[in-house]
Amino acid sequence: METITRTKIADLLKSKSFGEKVNVKGWVRTRRGSKMVNFIALNDGSTIHNVQIVVDVEKLGEEYLKPITTGACINVNGILVESQGKDQNVEVQATEVEIYGTADPQTYPLQKKGHSVEFLREIAHLRPRTNTFGAVFRIRHHMAMAIHRFFHERGFFYFHTPIITASDCEGAGQMFQVTTKNLYDLKKDENGNITYEDDFFGKQASLTVSGQLEGELAAMALGSIYTFGPTFRAENSNTPRHLAEFWMVEPEVAFYEIEENMQLAEDFIKYCIQWALDNCLDDIQFLNGARKLLYKNEDNDDLVERLRFILDNKFIRLSYTEGVKILEEAVAKGHKFEFPIFWGADLASEHERYLVEKHFKCPVILTDYPKEIKSFYMKQNEDGKTVRAMDVLFPKIGEIIGGSQREEDYDKLYKRAEEMDIPMKDIWWYLDTRRFGTAPHSGFGLGFERLLLFVTGMANIRDVIPFPRTPNNAEF
Ligand code: 4AD
Ligand code: MG
Repeated sequence: METITRTKIADLLKSKSFGEKVNVKGWVRTRRGSKMVNFIALNDGSTIHNVQIVVDVEKLGEEYLKPITTGACINVNGILVESQGKDQNVEVQATEVEIYGTADPQTYPLQKKGHSVEFLREIAHLRPRTNTFGAVFRIRHHMAMAIHRFFHERGFFYFHTPIITASDCEGAGQMFQVTTKNLYDLKKDENGNITYEDDFFGKQASLTVSGQLEGELAAMALGSIYTFGPTFRAENSNTPRHLAEFWMVEPEVAFYEIEENMQLAEDFIKYCIQWALDNCLDDIQFLNGARKLLYKNEDNDDLVERLRFILDNKFIRLSYTEGVKILEEAVAKGHKFEFPIFWGADLASEHERYLVEKHFKCPVILTDYPKEIKSFYMKQNEDGKTVRAMDVLFPKIGEIIGGSQREEDYDKLYKRAEEMDIPMKDIWWYLDTRRFGTAPHSGFGLGFERLLLFVTGMANIRDVIPFPRTPNNAEF
């Protein structure tokens, strides 16, 4: 075969170099045609769109073409020509076709369109080859780029916090342990407690639930930082919005009060959404249709409109107390929630979504939650009851961001940690930031997959991460 530099299909489709020799490589979506001429729809992952390869059957031989079935991988030399078809501008008239790999139609699982999302999760090793998941993972990449650019442009430094940790940042005790101990022969002390002195780290260690505590250390030196990495939660919640392994983006800013923190969160989400509209419109438009077939009974809003709506509206700012009042009034008027609502209750997703979708019809930033339902590190308000927390609540999603102004006063923080039974031996270094040059500061955590749920319109969080980890599921 003649050696010609490969062109990606994304670039080929924009090319006007008609008559030129080109090379394309990719996976066959379909092959159809007559005894004379075959049309191969080829995709290489660079774009949602396929390029049409036109094959002279007589020239290449009917037998030779037979193994070119859905899923096969081929290498094509040909001439770029203007297409007569109305669906595409260009096509490739093949001169040479090499078959890299066949995909036996009897066993290749992605034969027809319209597989269920559940089935596609079972073949997560192949689902990136579907149009839907190709689009989702391209958008995932673009959102990651947007996040880095947003912070980089504003002088934030990307700071890497550890995955293995000995402290429970959120204090919710949903951690996965990390150990090299022989679980079949655990050493215990005289009280029957497991000893960790002989374990790899010489103490009990876990996978992190958040990079925040270490992020704060960095903010107290570099001023503005963000983390972006995997976090782990062993909560046994089998919901469409929870993963055991998910990616979190956590900015932390010295000298920020909660108001500036809220503005940063709003600007940040809007930047990401604008980026999606600017860079992923083809994929978004494809998903707008595809998701309606994938998830039955889900609401059918227009994805582009959904994204524009966020850009066009200022997020409502509201205290938890005011939020609960609205929810209680809804109950009084006959609205039924599954979970009870009263001042002091942790809000369930149905409550968050009521505020956002039914009441305000707009994203809401809820602030000043009761201290009992929030973490030890949040700045305590004068009222002695609430803390300076802020959750960003989104339509379709519920909580997309959780954050707060941090308690910078050593004594108050120490007391709260004690009250909440946080072991000092685990967080002495965190408390040190308040002993040496403490400063007001704030930050938040965005669940990357929750943002992706919103942007892609996918209805289940398992479908926006390549290889989801959930209870009873760690295949691939
Ligand atoms: O509200 P969370 O628990 O906040 C923190 O971890 C803070 N340390 C963040 C900070 O202030 N730096 O989690 C932050 C976000 C949530 O709002 C949600 O979007 C996402 O992380 N999240 C999850 N996403 C997927 N699966 C889970 N199990 C999640 N738990 C939280
Ligand atoms: Mg939260």
